[in-house]
Amino acid sequence: MAHQKIRKAVFPAAGMGTRFLPATKATPKEMLCLVDKPLIQYGVEEAVAAGCTEIILISSRGKTTMEDHFDSNPELEASLLAKNKTALLEIARSVSRLAKVTVTRQPEPLGLGHAVLMAKEIVGNEPFAVILPDDIVDADIACMRQMVEAFNETGCSILGSEVVEGDAISAYGCLDCTPLASNPRLLEVKNMVEKPAPGTQPSQNAIIGRYILTPRIFEMIENITPGAGGELQLTDAIKALLQHEKVYGYSYIGKRHDAGDKQGFLRATVELGLKHPKLGSDLRAWLKSQTF
Ligand code: UTP
Repeated sequence: MAHQKIRKAVFPAAGMGTRFLPATKATPKEMLCLVDKPLIQYGVEEAVAAGCTEIILISSRGKTTMEDHFDSNPELEASLLAKNKTALLEIARSVSRLAKVTVTRQPEPLGLGHAVLMAKEIVGNEPFAVILPDDIVDADIACMRQMVEAFNETGCSILGSEVVEGDAISAYGCLDCTPLASNPRLLEVKNMVEKPAPGTQPSQNAIIGRYILTPRIFEMIENITPGAGGELQLTDAIKALLQHEKVYGYSYIGKRHDAGDKQGFLRATVELGLKHPKLGSDLRAWLKSQTF
């Protein structure tokens, strides 16, 4: 059966980024530069590689540089053109041509579920992708593209998942799930536990910052009760969705970098820097020459 196409990708980016202070006092976390481009550009490129044509940024006060980044900059372009810097001109232009970008605001950071709810009118009645910009997934086939294929197979909501060993799983939402015999990367979800206490996890399958959700999720978010700090948790809404529809985890192929805190960001900088086609080999040689 042909399922609806995943055309829209929602980027919750209205948080305060407190773990990065002081860097994020006046600069959005999502605009911190990882190697040579802002964090959020990685996610937007992934969505585009998955076939999405509309990006919905959930923004907040003081974060307009995000939308500026994806807009054209005629002054910059004219200046580069006048100086005949065509390669740089192409880089500047290509960012604004990635996709149609729509911005809506979350007035207060009332949780991930609440952030996604802000996209309700723009998304309308179709399944959509959600990408958390601080999870960077390095993969030969874009993680979201793999998930779109899983959606095309099932027609159900798909939660990006990876195995997290030992007690480290306690920092994640965790799936109680069974792999399908026909495709063991697809995990049929029975239940979900947010940050299970060590030893109580139903599996080692963590939920990462990639989702494909059916539009019924909006009704679920509207009906859940706020948890700690008045926040509406997306996990609670997906649990409610499970009462009505099947939901699958998808064990993607690739490597995730948690760039949402300082240590993860530093490690991602080194790993992705070393893999960068232009910067990598010099960086590797320099690192080798150092006596740390
Ligand atoms: P995080 O919890 O990692 O981001 O949420 P944060 O709240 O900005 O960071 P800290 O914990 O204070 O350091 C994951 C993503 O969800 C967005 C964030 O902007 C981030 O991209 N988010 C989170 C929202 O858009 N709204 C919210 O209410 C919460």
